[in-house]
Formats: sequence, structure tokens, C-alpha cells
Amino acid sequence: MSEFSTRILDWYDAHARQLPWRVSPQARRRGVMPDPYRVWLSEVMLQQTTIPHGIRYFLRFTELWPTVEDLARADREDVMREWAGLGYYARARNLYACAQLVSSQGGFPRVASELKKLPGIGPYTAGAIASIAFDERVAAVDGNVERVMTRFLAIDTPLPKAKQVVAEALEPRLPDHRFGDFTQALMDLGATICTPRGPACLTCPLSDDCAAHAAGREEAFPVKAPK
Ligand code: ADE
Repeated sequence: MSEFSTRILDWYDAHARQLPWRVSPQARRRGVMPDPYRVWLSEVMLQQTTIPHGIRYFLRFTELWPTVEDLARADREDVMREWAGLGYYARARNLYACAQLVSSQGGFPRVASELKKLPGIGPYTAGAIASIAFDERVAAVDGNVERVMTRFLAIDTPLPKAKQVVAEALEPRLPDHRFGDFTQALMDLGATICTPRGPACLTCPLSDDCAAHAAGREEAFPVKAPK
């Protein structure tokens, strides 16, 4: 197990956020796994909005449609109406189309390479669902993970190219198990400690070895492409 992943996972054991679609690291250890439908729904919603806002929509959707089959059978207009306020109706149309496809196929595919073929699921969402819901050994690079990794390694490749560099840097640093916890830990670290402004390096499990921190240049990463 890489030292990097051990530090991340130890930190997550103590500091994981409780979110309605999430299974705690303690419960995952006992073999409890999250519902892929709930993981998928949360990821699609969170591409669109903040966690507090996303939670409201998530709870409403799962109350109305507790399973992917329920969502697939829903009236399309009802789904669009409940999505209002989240914006980007193409996302809602894809959500509904994806639910129908998954429902007709008897469930979500369990690997990122197959998940990526579904409507509205790009590389990030596929990696997030596959690792979190099925513990596939795959990384999911969102804005939080980009920030953590570009700072840790002082990666000065500008966004959006940095995404690929970050994915390659993560590969040898993946743990040898607990892939879902690892994905969620990096997201939580980016959201709560390694924040865009004023990161809380004093409480960060990676700060000892963080290149940006050593240089006192945390906020210089990630580098944005010149406009
Ligand atoms: N942001 C997007 N997906 C997330 C997740 N699974 N956990 C925490 N923050 C997230």
C-alpha cells in the first residue's frame, strides 16, 4: 500500500463526511456497500450544484423514486419538473434516458469502461460510480482531486490538460483495496481542507510532503490556462 493512500485512508476513517448516499468507512469495512442508483444520482446532481443544495434534490428524488426502476417508470414531465432549479435540462433528459437503459439492462454496469457508455456519464462520473459503488480500482478526477494533486506534486500543467497528468500521478498511488473510500477521501480532503482559498494545511494529512505547501504557494495551483 502506498504511503500516500495510507495517509489518505487513515484521515478518511476519522473525518469522512456523512452524506445521504454514502456508506461510512466503518460500515464498508463490515461489507455494507452503497446503492449504485444513489451514487449515480448524487454524482449527476453534484456536477450541477453544491452539496447542501444537492442533498435537498437528492432526498426529494429518492423519496419520489427510491429505485432506478421507479425513476425509469416515472412520467418524464415529472422528472423534468423536479429537476427545475438544478439547471441544464440536458442533464435531466440524460438522467431519465440513463434510468430507462439501466432499468432495461437489469442494473448498473459494474465497471467504469461500461458505465462510460451510458447517457450523461463521462470519465469522471464513471470512475466515481465504479470505485464508490463497486470498489473498482479506478480513479475519479474532479475539481477537488485536481486541486489536491496539483498542489501535492506542484503540477504546473494548466487546466484542463492537468486532469490527465493528475490521473497518471494517481495511478501508482492508488491503495491496494478500499478504492471507493479512497475516491471519497480525496474529494472530502479537497472540499474541506485543500480548499481553493486559505487551505487548512495545519490539519492536512499530506502537508509534510506537499510541494506547494513547502514552497508556500498553495494558491498557485491548479494553474489555469491563460484566457
Ligand atoms: N462531490 C462530488 N461527488 C462527491 C462525493 N461522492 N463525495 C463528496 N463530494 C462529492
